[in-house]
Amino acid sequence: MALPSRSQQTAVDKEGHQWWQHAVFYELYPRSFADSNNDGIGDIPGVTSKLEYLRWLGVDAIWIAPMFPSPHVDWGYDVSDYYNVDPDYGTLQNMDELLAKAKQQDIRVLLDFVLTYTSDQNKWFQEAKSSRSNPKRDWYIWRDGKGPGQPPNNWTSLFGGSAWKFDPASDQWYYHYFYPPQPNLNWRNPEVEKNLFDVTRWWYKRGVAGFRLDAVDVMYVDSQFRDNPVVGTDKNAFGDPVEREIYDKNQPELHGVLRRLRKIADENNAVLIGETWTSDIDQLRKYYGEHNDEVNMPMDFMFTTINKLSPADFRKQIQWVDGSGGWPVYVLSNHDIRRVYDRYGDGQHNDQIAKLMASLYLTLRGTPVMYYGEEIGMENNDPKRPEDVKDSMGKAGWPKEKGRDGERTPMQWNAKANAGFSAVAPWLPVGARYKSYNVDIQKKDPNSILNYYRLLLSLRHTNAALLEGKYIALNEDDPNVLAYARIYQTKTVLVVLNMSGVLQKVRLDLASKDIHAHPAKTLLSSFAAPKQVDVDEISVEPFGAWVGEIQ
Ligand code: BGC
Repeated sequence: MALPSRSQQTAVDKEGHQWWQHAVFYELYPRSFADSNNDGIGDIPGVTSKLEYLRWLGVDAIWIAPMFPSPHVDWGYDVSDYYNVDPDYGTLQNMDELLAKAKQQDIRVLLDFVLTYTSDQNKWFQEAKSSRSNPKRDWYIWRDGKGPGQPPNNWTSLFGGSAWKFDPASDQWYYHYFYPPQPNLNWRNPEVEKNLFDVTRWWYKRGVAGFRLDAVDVMYVDSQFRDNPVVGTDKNAFGDPVEREIYDKNQPELHGVLRRLRKIADENNAVLIGETWTSDIDQLRKYYGEHNDEVNMPMDFMFTTINKLSPADFRKQIQWVDGSGGWPVYVLSNHDIRRVYDRYGDGQHNDQIAKLMASLYLTLRGTPVMYYGEEIGMENNDPKRPEDVKDSMGKAGWPKEKGRDGERTPMQWNAKANAGFSAVAPWLPVGARYKSYNVDIQKKDPNSILNYYRLLLSLRHTNAALLEGKYIALNEDDPNVLAYARIYQTKTVLVVLNMSGVLQKVRLDLASKDIHAHPAKTLLSSFAAPKQVDVDEISVEPFGAWVGEIQ
């Protein structure tokens, strides 16, 4: 009997979970994924040509980093038109083809919604800038300076320097949290809300299944424009004072917008992922909304700030988000965060460590968001010389801050020239190890990182405890091994992750958690483990991962 396709499955399962709670999401950077017309730049038809691969891997939904028309000051995160596709990436028709083909493969497509600011080339800003009395003037944030040549207050841009840019023609300053060519929208103006909400409706109609909401924390600024307090006398990588960002971030009004945006998403059976950088769990909890009515999937970036293999730190973080009342969303890297291979690798066991980390975020209770290339162990390929840097952040911050090019290099498809990404030299150089770290080669090797990912994805789609089970921490004092159970009805899956470089003989403390210690069947392991394992003592190789089910 044929299984119903995922899109035909009922909206909510018997545990009340919706499709996105069981889905595996995959972020791809369109400029670097696959180049269909051999101009060195990835594009939308390139993405379409790889849907089969993504289905094979077990991906349920893709989030495409911005593909809208853009001058690319910030590689797409500066949108000049929300209703089209950048010519570098193709056409609207290409987008429609992608949506149609993705539907056939049961893969949902999410776009990146850059709603906090636009490009200065966007016609809205061009109009706003044209005169103080233009009806769109108030769509952006304009202020008089404190005095000649002095910005309205001390707020700094994330990418260095004042967050205000002077416009001599109108003798006022406009606000930009990011680069000067990325003016912030004024969300206090209802017209802004109406127009941006319409953008989402338009794309939902075309078949988009949701959005990743960019930079929501800086959507609003203090209505009185008060100075941020300066902390100490140290300067950051850009030479600016370090500020406590209490007036340019996390203003309470943003939650109203998120609730209203969620309502529209719900009406369209769509889902919202949040770029929700937070410093504590209470902040993260707010993004779910008091009644779980804001962002469905606020990403837990605190998880990504754990940069060492520390069971204690991971345990603490998992416990927080798992107990937050919202559905956890786990991420390890993305287009702004260095790759797993570099962050956790010890230079000797990197492949093992890549499998170890995969076993962590893909077996937890929650939704994982993968980043393209992690499944083949791609590493950061950082620029070596300032003249090679493409990311303006790296240009401004060199040499202290080299920018994010390293984690955005072309996907490595095969061992041919340019890793099969393009017939010509790509916009960013291909990683040095592409001849052995590529999809083609790893597909053929049963022990590859890629095949390990594929097995993990398949397991989490089919194993009831991994799909529905609660998370129970085990051996909470162990400094080397992170262990937990996932329990659903009569099923118990155990996950044992050795985060140390030596063999660990783990005695799982199941009794204190009321788990009966019958022998367990190995479901998946990153080393040669016996089929049946005595849970009284499980041997786990250095940086090894073992997943088993109690019989
Ligand atoms: C994106 C970054 C981008 C920044 C400013 C972030 O939220 O993820 O890649 O540089 O917005 O545009």
